[in-house]
Amino acid sequence: MEIPAESWYNSISLRHSQRKYSGEVPDESVTSGIEKVCTEFAPFPGVRSVLVREPANDVFKGAVGQYFFKVTKAPYYIAFIGDITKANIQASVGYTGEGIILEATALGLNTCWVGGFYKREAVLKQIDLKDNEQLLAITPIGYSLDGKDRVGNSPKKHRRKELNGLILSKEDNIGSWIDSTLEAARLAPSAANRQPWRFSISEDSITVSSSSNREGFGVSRRLDCGIAMLHLELGALVSGFKGSWEFLDYPEIARFLIH
Ligand SMILES: Cc1cc2nc3c(=O)[nH]c(=O)nc-3n(C[C@H](O)[C@H](O)[C@H](O)COP(=O)(O)O)c2cc1C
Repeated sequence: MEIPAESWYNSISLRHSQRKYSGEVPDESVTSGIEKVCTEFAPFPGVRSVLVREPANDVFKGAVGQYFFKVTKAPYYIAFIGDITKANIQASVGYTGEGIILEATALGLNTCWVGGFYKREAVLKQIDLKDNEQLLAITPIGYSLDGKDRVGNSPKKHRRKELNGLILSKEDNIGSWIDSTLEAARLAPSAANRQPWRFSISEDSITVSSSSNREGFGVSRRLDCGIAMLHLELGALVSGFKGSWEFLDYPEIARFLIH
């Protein structure tokens, strides 16, 4: 499917992680929109996104800390699944899952990537995995308990690192489009907000690398970097620059080649 660049780009600033839900079940028209994007947005091999139309009460577990709270009363959730024999599967799941999350945001739904603190056994009672498939993350979907946290109402700011600290190298004479492109990537969500992405910029490409190969929170930094890849591409697309991805060897993740 072609990326709806304007709509997903607008969702970047509207999306915030939401953990307390009202229990309200989305209308069928909204749910079928989510089912459609889960089926149709599959840009890389080995990734499967499944909407589970069952309450996720048994699925989420609590944890104490700044970034982890128990998710409550989500009517539905989406499971992001990867074939672990496929190369680059973590980044591919991050990229794909974020597309689905940004579409959910555009449909007015709240979401929250959850990579570590959920009960896999509970999910595996509700979905079947094929050989070689692993559950890499889930997101609740629904409407926030508090009206002020609904999509478009939230006054929350994104707490992120300064862009300067994320740039490894940058050639001179790159147009101003690079600023909004990198800003879109900077706003990407990541496990525990660790923001592992780093950027090397040349006239015809942007390389995304990971700051470290440590895992942590049960989530790969490659998955976080896959999320930032989609944000970066959306920033480039709305600035009029199309491109394609070439995966690279760690600690580099992938290079966006501008056409
Ligand atoms: C791959 C991934 C895994 C995450 N896992 C969890 C989790 O297990 N529990 C949780 O409460 N939040 C989790 N988060 C949400 C992050 O804490 C959140 O995205 C980050 O703090 C930035 O905040 P924001 O999403 O509101 O912009 C995860 C985010 C990502 C991208």
